[in-house]
Amino acid sequence: MTGRPSEAGYEAAPNIALVKYWGVRDEDLGLPYNSSLSVTLNHLRTRTWVKFDPKLTEDKFVLGRTEPTGGPLRAVVEFLDEVRALARFETHALVRSENNFQTASGLASSASGFAALAGAASLAAGLRLSPTALSRLARLGSGSACRSLFGGFVEWRAGTRADGRDCYARPLFPPRHWPGLVDLVAIVKDAPEKTVRSSVAMQLTVATSPEYARRLKEVPVRIRAIKRALAARDAAALFDRTMEECDSFRLVCETTTPKLDYLVPASRRVLTEVRAANDERGTPIAGYTHDAGAHVHVFTTTTEMVRLRRRLASLPGVEKVLVVSPGPGGHDLRRWVH
Ligand code: DP6
Repeated sequence: MTGRPSEAGYEAAPNIALVKYWGVRDEDLGLPYNSSLSVTLNHLRTRTWVKFDPKLTEDKFVLGRTEPTGGPLRAVVEFLDEVRALARFETHALVRSENNFQTASGLASSASGFAALAGAASLAAGLRLSPTALSRLARLGSGSACRSLFGGFVEWRAGTRADGRDCYARPLFPPRHWPGLVDLVAIVKDAPEKTVRSSVAMQLTVATSPEYARRLKEVPVRIRAIKRALAARDAAALFDRTMEECDSFRLVCETTTPKLDYLVPASRRVLTEVRAANDERGTPIAGYTHDAGAHVHVFTTTTEMVRLRRRLASLPGVEKVLVVSPGPGGHDLRRWVH
C-alpha cells in the first residue's frame, strides 16, 4: 500500500424508496429484478472511517459505542474483502461508524451505512472509483446503498446483464429540484428492531407471494409515472403513485409465507390519517410510504406541512414527526477523527 492513503472518512445519508427494490435475480452480485427510485434525505447521516492497518490480525468494527458481532460484523468483513480484492492487498481494517439516528429501525441504516463504508474503504484502499463504479461496489454491501451515494432523486437501474455492469444508481434530479416538497417522518413508539435482512426477506416474497409476478409487471409503469410527476413537480400525481407503490409493496409482503408485517398499529394509523386528509380535500395533499420498518414517511408540500404534521404527531403511538427534505449525496470527510 506504499504511497496510497490507508485511512479515510466518508459520510452518506439514508434514502427512502418511492419505488421499492424487492427481489433479487442474482444473490451473489446483488442484482435486483426491478429498477427502483428513491429520495436521499437531509439531516440524517452515517459517518464512517476506515483505516487499513498492517498491525491488525483481523478486521474490527465499531458502531457508535458498540462492537457488533455475528451477521453485522460478517457483512462488514465480507464487504472489506471485496474492496481488498479490487485493491489487490490483504491488510485488515479498523472501521468506525456512527449514525445520528437509530440503527436498524426502518430508517435505512444499511443504505447509508454501506454507502459510507464503500466511500471510506475505497478511498482508504487507494482506489479511485467513478461514481458508477462506487455505486456498483456499494450495492454488494446492501442493495439500497447504491442509491445513497447520490443526492436528491435517484434511480437504480436493474440492468439486464448477468455480470451486473449495467446495474447501478444514477441521479435523476438534484436535491433542490422541488423546494416545496417535504418528507414528514412519523417515528412510531416500540418499532421492532429488524432481525432479518431485507435481502433475505425479499427472497421469501419472490418464492411464495402469488402477487409478486403482477407487481413486477406494474413497477416499470409506476417508475415512468413517478419520473413524470417529479419532472413536472406534480404533487397530486406523485403522492398518488407513491401510495399505490407502497400498497403494492405491503401486499407482496403480507402475502409472503411466512407473512412479513413490518408495521405496528401506530404505523397503520398514519396511513389511515393520510388517506382521510386526502379524502377531505378531494385530492391527494400527501402520500405515505414505508420500507421494511415501522416508521412512515409522508411526503407533502410546505403549504400543508404544519397542519399535517400536527395531525400526525397527535396520533396515539406516534413519538414524533421529523421534517426532512431531499438532501445531498455521499462525500469524503477528508480527516480521521479518533
Ligand atoms: C424495502 O437494500 O436494505 O427498503 O441488502 O438486506 O441491506 P439489504 O437490503 P436493503 O433492502 C431495501 C428494501 C426496501 C426497499 C428499497 O429501499 O428500495
